[in-house]
Amino acid sequence: MSTPSLLILPGDGIGPEVMAEVRKIVDWFGAKRDLTFDVSEDLVGGAAYDAHGTPLHDDTMARAQDVDAVLLGAVGGPKYDALDFSLKPERGLLRLRKEMDLFANLRPAQCFDALSHFSSLKQEVVAGLDIMIVRELTSGVYFGEPRGIFEEGNERVGINTQRYTESEIDRVARSAFELAMKRDKKLCSMEKANVMESGILWREVVTRVGQDYPEVELSHMYADAGAMQLTRWPKQFDVIVTDNLFGDLLSDLAAMLTGSLGMLPSASLGAPMSNGRPKALYEPVHGSAPDIAGQGKANPIACILSFAMALRYSFDQGDEAARVEKAVEAVLADGVRTADLLGEDGTVPVSTSEMGDAIVAKLDASL
Ligand code: IPM
Ligand code: MG
Repeated sequence: MSTPSLLILPGDGIGPEVMAEVRKIVDWFGAKRDLTFDVSEDLVGGAAYDAHGTPLHDDTMARAQDVDAVLLGAVGGPKYDALDFSLKPERGLLRLRKEMDLFANLRPAQCFDALSHFSSLKQEVVAGLDIMIVRELTSGVYFGEPRGIFEEGNERVGINTQRYTESEIDRVARSAFELAMKRDKKLCSMEKANVMESGILWREVVTRVGQDYPEVELSHMYADAGAMQLTRWPKQFDVIVTDNLFGDLLSDLAAMLTGSLGMLPSASLGAPMSNGRPKALYEPVHGSAPDIAGQGKANPIACILSFAMALRYSFDQGDEAARVEKAVEAVLADGVRTADLLGEDGTVPVSTSEMGDAIVAKLDASL
């Protein structure tokens, strides 16, 4: 098989800093595990706007379509706030998701033992938490037409459209059931079937797909009740499947249950390519954190764990993914902390690159 290809898009803010640490891990696999990647790098977001006047150059889009996996840092920053909507850094990311047709967004929310006291919830509520949110990523109100700001009489009206076809619901539901089969075989689907027709259809299609997965225990919840249950007793959930907008909200909520956004990776997957690998983009859940950019304070773990997800979902290297995840756990168990993971106990934080080095050292120790 040819060398797998990886397109790295560091993006803005802390993106380049955390991605530099991922490069250390990628290089480690080449040197120590004979797992070499054909790595190329390009611009996205504000960085692409600065260079080309667009948040995603067509050439970059074409390269993203061509590689086995894309790894993205983060996009956005106050510098770009005044830009026209169509030129904002986020549009680059949304274009990647849409044109690569990355319909299944996997957002794990896992509470690391060493950090369970960090959650704003009681430790017993979050200790050992391990849930997976599957967010539909290429449709719904994010992309539905009509959309825009229009004149209506003597005032303006802002319009966005929640729209889901049966096939869009079907395919993301299948991804969620497949994941549930590999986990605790429990799936909760969230929508607002009490007020939205799209929610009624969503519930119907998910239920129908469920007939193909009789081993999976399927439940349904209104998304508002789901948010409440997620904060009340999150361990009742295994896999959650939901639409684009509810998934955006619920995944931030679930992420914060674990105590730090700096820890959480994500995978956005599409249909299989001709080589059998899914179209895929991996990115940390956190944003570009412009307030700490360039200071060596950022936590690279979410981005490193995103690469671990790439090993698992794109490159069939589940054991090597687990090796990275264990290295991260071991570093945390040693008390190594970036600034975002510090309490009041007087621990001195390590820098972004020291955290990367510590993880590499644990990888070495794993051999
Ligand atoms: C996310 C982000 C994006 C979204 C933004 C940056 C467009 O919040 O990935 O959750 O809303 O999808
Ligand atoms: Mg979000």
